[in-house]
This record gives sequence, structure tokens and C-alpha cells, in this order.
Amino acid sequence: MERLTDAAAIERLASHHAAMVSELNEAVRALDDACAADDPAAAVREAERLQAYLQNEVVPHAEGEERTLYAEAREADPRLIDLMIYEHGELRRRIDACAALTEGSPGVGSDGGRRAYAGLAHEVAALFAAHAYKEDTYLVPLLVANAPQGRLAELFVAMHA
Ligand SMILES: [Fe+2]
Ligand SMILES: [Fe+2]
Repeated sequence: MERLTDAAAIERLASHHAAMVSELNEAVRALDDACAADDPAAAVREAERLQAYLQNEVVPHAEGEERTLYAEAREADPRLIDLMIYEHGELRRRIDACAALTEGSPGVGSDGGRRAYAGLAHEVAALFAAHAYKEDTYLVPLLVANAPQGRLAELFVAMHA
């Protein structure tokens, strides 16, 4: 198996963040388009697709970070880690509210439910983009400054284990 370097791990985290930001923005746009076209079936489909992405990608990403990168960086800057965990909580709260709308009845099956879902989806996308920016700009350099060589690569692998 290839050996991951710290630099490659940083690069992968940053590109994963960028990919997630654009995936979320695209999903929100598709949902908006379906709502604007007054196409309820398409809006429900887009909401369900976005929900699967939130649950299968965004939530495990946040949990993986808390187990690894955040745990490692806490001692060096507990306030930054508290803020990052607070933001995960804000994301999680909205993702749970979105889940309730996709699972509940009428939920996204109703006009109001679709509007509520779209509003939450916009908030999740905006929050996630700002959060990922802070991780790339403040958390990663903090880890680089404090972790021994090779540790970042280890953490990155553990994050996805
Ligand atoms: Fe995060
Ligand atoms: Fe992240």
C-alpha cells in the first residue's frame, strides 16, 4: 500500500473539503430549481439525494475529525476545537431537522415542508463552507505546528477508518 505523506494528507483534506462544498452547493441549486419549476416529485428526489449525502458523507466526516484531528489539536488550542465542535453541532442539528422532513409525513411531500427543507439546506451549505475554510486555514496549520512528522498522515488514515 502507498505510504501517505503529511503534505499529501493535507492536500487530500483540502480537496475533500472543496469537493464537499461544491457538492452541497450543487445539491442546493438542484433543489431550488425543482422548487422554482414547481416540480414536487423532482424536489422530493433532490431532497432525498441531498439527505443521503449529508448522512453518508458529511456526518461521518465530522465524526472522523472529532475522533482524530480535533482530539490531537485540542491541547494546542482548546478554544478553536470548542468552536469547531460547536459548528459540528449546528450542522448536525440542521441535518437532523432535514432528516425529520424527508422521513416524516407530509414533510417534503408538502409545499411548506419542501420550503423548510430548502431553507435548512441553504444554511447547511453556507455553514459547512465557512467551517471547512476554518479547518483548512486554522486547524491544519495548528496541527502542522504541533504534531510530529508523519502524525498528520496517520490521523488522516484513522479519520477514514
Ligand atoms: Fe469539521
Ligand atoms: Fe472538515
